[in-house]
Amino acid sequence: MKVVTIVGARPQFIKSAALSKAMRKTSIEEVLLHTGQHYDPNMSQIFFDELEIAAPKYNLNVGSGSHAQQTAKMMIGIEEVLLKEEPDCVILFGDTNSTLAGAVVAAKLNIPIAHIEAGLRCFLKYVPEEQNRIVADHLSTFNFTPSENGRKWLADEGITENVYNFGDIMVDGLLFYSEKAERFNFDYYCEKLIPIDNKVIKKEMIEKGWCFSTIHRQENTDSLEKIMGILDALNDYEYPVILPLHPRTRNLLPEGSMEKYENILFVEPLAYMDTIYFAKHSKIVVTDSGGLHKECYCLKIPTIVIAVNSCWAETFVGNWATLAHPEKDDIICKMNNVKADEKLWRPAYGDGTAAIKIVDKLIEKLSVKDVLRK
Ligand code: UD1
Repeated sequence: MKVVTIVGARPQFIKSAALSKAMRKTSIEEVLLHTGQHYDPNMSQIFFDELEIAAPKYNLNVGSGSHAQQTAKMMIGIEEVLLKEEPDCVILFGDTNSTLAGAVVAAKLNIPIAHIEAGLRCFLKYVPEEQNRIVADHLSTFNFTPSENGRKWLADEGITENVYNFGDIMVDGLLFYSEKAERFNFDYYCEKLIPIDNKVIKKEMIEKGWCFSTIHRQENTDSLEKIMGILDALNDYEYPVILPLHPRTRNLLPEGSMEKYENILFVEPLAYMDTIYFAKHSKIVVTDSGGLHKECYCLKIPTIVIAVNSCWAETFVGNWATLAHPEKDDIICKMNNVKADEKLWRPAYGDGTAAIKIVDKLIEKLSVKDVLRK
C-alpha cells in the first residue's frame, strides 16, 4: 500500500514525524511531499533533522504569497505528484494552506484522503485555518479527530462516516519530546536563545523564571497597532518574556522597534524540543498558536490565548487557557489573574498512541480499496 503524505508548515512536520514512525513499522510505503510553504531553515529543515523525518521525495518550493497564489501553486505541483505516484491514500494534517491544496487535488482525482486533526472549529469563518479545515473535513474519506468535540462538530455538519477519535497525534510527539527535553539542563537551553535585536541574553536574566510567548496569526499581525498592544503587555509582565519571532511577525516590526521592549527577549524561532522546554518551565504562556496552547494544556501550564476564539475548547475548562484581545490592558489583566484549576484538568487529547491507531485503521480500511474508490 502506498500513501502520499503532504506537509508544508511547522506543526505538520511534528505531526507527520509521529505518523511516519508508526508507518515505518508496517508495510506501507510512504512518499513525503513538502509543499515548501515554510522554507526558512529554522522554520523547516531544523524540524526534519531533529524529528528524524526522512527527506521529502518532493519539495514544491512554493514559498510565500497571497493565499490564492500560494494555494494555486501547491495544487498544480500536488496534482503532478499524485498522478505520477498513484497512491492508495493521501494523508493531510491540520488546517494550513498545504492541507487545503492537498484536499482539493486529491478529492478531484478521487483518491481517498485521511485527514488528521479533523473536526476542529473556532466558529469564525474569516479565520484562514477555519476555511481550510471545513473544506478538508468535508472532502476527506477518513477524519481522525483529536478529541470527542471534533467528532461532535463533524456530526453537526453531517459527517459521521469514517470518523475516529484516537486522540491527538501532537500528544504522541509531545510526550516523547517533553521527556527527552529533561535530559538537558538549563544552561543548554539558554545557549539555544539567539537574540535578534541588540540585547545580550544572559542566563541570569531568566533563572528566576520567565514567560514564554509566540505570536504569528494573521489576525494579530495584520496591524502594527495590535502587535504593539501585545508587546506592550508582555513588556510590563513581572518576569522576562522569551519571544521566538515568526518571520511574519518579525517582518511587521519596524527597524529598531524591538529595543524599547526591555523585558522581552526576541529570539530566532526555536526547534521543537527547545520550545517544549521553555513552555513547560514557563510561569505562564502567552500565545496565539492553537498547537502551543493545546500542548500547554497537556503540560498543565496556564496559557493566555490571544484570539477571539479557539478550536481547542477543552483547554478552557478549569481556566487552563484564557482568551484575551490583542490589547495591552486586557492581556495584562488576564496574565495577572490566572486561576487554573487542577481538579478540572482532563486528559482530553488522548494518551499519545494516536499514530499507531490511525495507521492500523488505515490498513484495515484501505484493504477494501474497491469500496473506497467507488
Ligand atoms: C501557517 C498556517 C498556520 C500555522 C502556521 C505554523 C495557513 C493559512 N496558516 O501560518 O495555521 O499555525 O503556518 O507556523 O496555512 N515566512 C517566512 N519564512 C517561512 C515561512 C513564512 O518568511 O519559512 C513569512 C512570509 O512572510 C509569509 C508569512 O511568514 O508570507 C506567513 O507564512 P504562511 O506560511 O503564509 O503562514 P503562517 O503565518 O506561517
